[in-house]
Amino acid sequence: MSHLSRDASTLLRPPNTAPVIAPPEELPVDHVLVLKVIPLPGDANANGDIFGGWVMAQMDLAGSVLPARYAQGRMATVAVNEFIFKQPVRVGDILSFFAKMERIGRTSMTVNVGVYAERFANQGTYIKVTEARMTYVAIDDHGRPRPVPNTQI
Ligand SMILES: CC(C)(COP(=O)(O)OP(=O)(O)OC[C@H]1O[C@@H](n2cnc3c(N)ncnc32)[C@H](O)[C@@H]1OP(=O)(O)O)[C@@H](O)C(=O)NCCC(=O)NCCS
Repeated sequence: MSHLSRDASTLLRPPNTAPVIAPPEELPVDHVLVLKVIPLPGDANANGDIFGGWVMAQMDLAGSVLPARYAQGRMATVAVNEFIFKQPVRVGDILSFFAKMERIGRTSMTVNVGVYAERFANQGTYIKVTEARMTYVAIDDHGRPRPVPNTQI
């Protein structure tokens, strides 16, 4: 083992399995399920919880699903208007991302996404862990904003 990899191995922490006290929630009936994913040990931070940047990346993907139906082509994330980490995400949680279109403008689309965790040892019960509001812009081949072609679905 090299000097570097020996040092790196001392940074690894086991997954955090301490119980999180949070009330279960009903899943939102006015949102659409757009993504399910299970975070792995490699997605954890130094505390053993899931790294917030990993959650944000999944959120960006999940948030793009409904706007893509309206954009019908290239688009880019222009803004994360709000992002709240309500509860920690744990290794082995099953995460469900629910999205709802909030606004369709001339070239931009704003979507609300809520993330619900089924804890590893408590399947079937949902804890809201994260919510966000993000805006995407339909862009042309030169990366410039273009009108959203499909404003009714
Ligand atoms: C997205 C991009 C093409 C927009 O170009 P722009 O010249 O700033 O465009 P505009 O100012 O005309 O704004 C375009 C739309 O975005 C909206 N918008 C811009 N900033 C916004 C913000 N902070 N929050 C919400 N909407 C915003 C505008 O209101 C407009 O919407 P509308 O046409 O529906 O009214 C450009 O900013 C860009 O390329 N950004 C980088 C995108 C990127 O790399 N994303 C990945 C980051 S990891």
